[in-house]
Amino acid sequence: MTGSPKPLIAGNWKMHGSEVFAADLAGSLADRMAGHGGGGVEMLLCPPALLLGSVRAAVGASGVAIGGQDCHVAEQGAHTGDIAAAMLADAGCGYVIVGHSERRADHGEDDALVQSKAEAAQAAKLVPVVCIGETLDQRDAGTAVEVVISQLRGSVPEGSSASTLVVAYEPVWAIGTGRTPTPADIAEIHDAIRDVLTAITTQGDGVRILYGGSVKPINAAEILTIENVNGALVGGASLKADDFWAIAQSA
Ligand code: PGA
Repeated sequence: MTGSPKPLIAGNWKMHGSEVFAADLAGSLADRMAGHGGGGVEMLLCPPALLLGSVRAAVGASGVAIGGQDCHVAEQGAHTGDIAAAMLADAGCGYVIVGHSERRADHGEDDALVQSKAEAAQAAKLVPVVCIGETLDQRDAGTAVEVVISQLRGSVPEGSSASTLVVAYEPVWAIGTGRTPTPADIAEIHDAIRDVLTAITTQGDGVRILYGGSVKPINAAEILTIENVNGALVGGASLKADDFWAIAQSA
């Protein structure tokens, strides 16, 4: 690699929080980040869309980035309940998660749709965090690498580069379960993702590949030191300032 990219520690709040909670949590993390001088890690908070304003106000100029959890493929239009990528950018976002397994499962999103969402994000100058990952059945069947690489090829927009794309490998069976793959299994998948990114994107060795799925303070250091793991996408542990900060410190 031509020097490792700056690690990205992203918090996916999912459907949790309130105005007060958002101000407290984001404010606490912003204070720590500012006190820390920004450091060698980038921190990203992805709250529910309604809380972006509070989180934006709370993080202020600390350097903590904010992002959405999903976006629509269209620039605007008759899509009740949906949010356009440009609206997220307008709300201060630099990133948007697309293709999270919960969206793929709850809303039937497939690779082609995820790719279109990632393209819409890039068009709005947001960096999509494209999520991919195998189910437990697929892992048990020995097809994890194949499944993940097929999702990667199907979900990443053509013409992506190190500055316009983040990939998150999140085994579905590790999300919210307290279970994680072994370091060797994580390394195998991340190495395979890196090989493909090097082939299909520009400066593919600089595209950040996050690991997600039950990342906690207790396992973060071990996971974040695996080669080709360039950060983490954190769910449950991102809802506690101490835990999320401890994970960022491990990077
Ligand atoms: P978890 O969620 O950290 O609670 O397992 C990760 C995610 O879904 O992004």
